[in-house]
Amino acid sequence: MLNLTVHSILSLFVAAASTVFAAPQSVPITGILSGQGTWYEQGLGACGFLENDSEFVVAIGHTLFDTYPGYAGGNPNNNPVCGRTVTAAYQGHTVTATVLDRCVGCDTYDLDFSPAAFSQLAPQSVGRLLGVEWVFN
Ligand SMILES: *[C@@H]1O[C@H](CO)[C@@H](O)[C@H](O)[C@H]1NC(C)=O
Repeated sequence: MLNLTVHSILSLFVAAASTVFAAPQSVPITGILSGQGTWYEQGLGACGFLENDSEFVVAIGHTLFDTYPGYAGGNPNNNPVCGRTVTAAYQGHTVTATVLDRCVGCDTYDLDFSPAAFSQLAPQSVGRLLGVEWVFN
């Protein structure tokens, strides 16, 4: 009886601890990913580099950035996703861009491009592209 009680209390504690302290779940990063495409004016990115609008760079969604394998949180400059390239396709156009930033307003697989990179997919005036398909290279 005592053993059972201790065991029950421990089980409850473990369950509570894993609920409270669980690391964010990582999300798939292989295969063809799909989300919206947008663009924004460049500046200092989360990876610690100053980007300009002419570079082919992209920000990935905060969930994907924060749970990227090998990133334990802390200094985002150390995220191993920094410097990886993605190739994205939209209506027969493709672009390859380097991940250098984290997009706060993006859903998991949305991509927020530099103006130059976005322009390879569609005119900037379109603004938001639905159904951009992309892969990590
Ligand atoms: C943008 O950055 C690239 C790479 O660092 C550089 O070659 C280019 O001159 C820069 N362009 C502008 C307009 O600053």
